[in-house]
Amino acid sequence: MSGGFAAVDVIRAKRDGGVLSDPQIDWVVDAYTRGVVADEQMSALAMAILLNGMTGPEIARWTAAMIASGERLDLSAVDRPTVDKHSTGGVGDKITLPLTPLVAACGGAVPQLSGRGLGHTGGTLDKLESIPGWRAALSNDEFIAQLRDVGAVICAAGAGLAPADRKLYALRDVTGTVEAIPLIASSIMSKKIAEGTGALVLDVKVGSGAFMKSVDRARELARTMVELGGAHGVRTVALLTDMSTPLGLTIGNAVEVTESVEVLAGGGPADVVELTLALAQEMLAAAGLPDADPEAALRDGRAMDAWRSMIRAQGGDPDAPMPTAAEVEVVRADADGFVAEVDAYAMGVAAWRLGAGRARKEDPVSVPAGVVLHKRPGDPVRTGDPLYELRADDASRIPAARDDAARAVRIAPAAPARPPLVIERIG
Ligand code: URA
Repeated sequence: MSGGFAAVDVIRAKRDGGVLSDPQIDWVVDAYTRGVVADEQMSALAMAILLNGMTGPEIARWTAAMIASGERLDLSAVDRPTVDKHSTGGVGDKITLPLTPLVAACGGAVPQLSGRGLGHTGGTLDKLESIPGWRAALSNDEFIAQLRDVGAVICAAGAGLAPADRKLYALRDVTGTVEAIPLIASSIMSKKIAEGTGALVLDVKVGSGAFMKSVDRARELARTMVELGGAHGVRTVALLTDMSTPLGLTIGNAVEVTESVEVLAGGGPADVVELTLALAQEMLAAAGLPDADPEAALRDGRAMDAWRSMIRAQGGDPDAPMPTAAEVEVVRADADGFVAEVDAYAMGVAAWRLGAGRARKEDPVSVPAGVVLHKRPGDPVRTGDPLYELRADDASRIPAARDDAARAVRIAPAAPARPPLVIERIG
């Protein structure tokens, strides 16, 4: 026992469906961060929270305690309005790459602290590290200076930001407690509030490739996060967006950078462009810049200029060619018809097996590995048409990915009805 509480009493209270008091929450989050509450005790508490939930005030207090576990950045030296975006994670979700420089090109400053991929979802930092020379780690001073000079930064969160979340997220990952809405909402919002952004747009993914498989759960998560943002003075809106199929035509690291650059050059797949513009419009409105025209900034090269400045500022060479995979297997259609489905989860697992993702935090990722789709849901196909490519550094990785990729794709006699990409707006 320490500070008047015993961890086991806090665990029992939540196990029995009780409401934790503010002092209990403050104590348990702080004591866990300091190593006084052990991992096994926090695992039990996280499972009790997953099973029994938390009230709105409990989630708000838990989030405040996670923010208080570390530093809160002060971005007042940045003279443009700050606005960030957070995606709850998906397959082929490279939107941060074109979106960050696009919003900067329209007058916002985007302080994007990103993560690495784990499991079947990709990580923005892993993707950007495909660019020779680019570095993810910046000091707080470098972060703020780049935000002032370029208006766009994508980098790793420093160790001082919400350390309680860093520890708790790693624990949840290995204890089957990632999917608890109070824990996801407090994890995401503690980091975003601590980074100091003035406004925030959340891209809450729904579907097989997302943590939230149903619209109802995604809506509950979105509402919880929007309320948390408002309570901490961060203007927050959320879009619920479809993640039943991968975004765009590429899933991996270098392949996703290449596709993002196509979008910045005014091309790219229609769904990536649509979501990039929808999120840019929300971010610019939340930042108090509703008259900015992101479509024009993509067309006239301003977004590309901001991308090049952002990459160079972090040591990257925006003109360096992307590495190509040593092994490429093209998979072809075995029937005539329409692509009825490309399942996001199964394709995400295939890309992961090819080496694009990692099994353990410390594993390296392969830069050129991944999947390149030739067809998307709704496209007509004829027998023998290329459906997708599996790319890897090492031929031994391809057989393991074949089955997942084959399971992901279904061909049917008629074109399917597709859900809208942007399902709902909350805010
Ligand atoms: N992303 C986070 O940062 N935290 C979660 O809990 C889930 C997704």
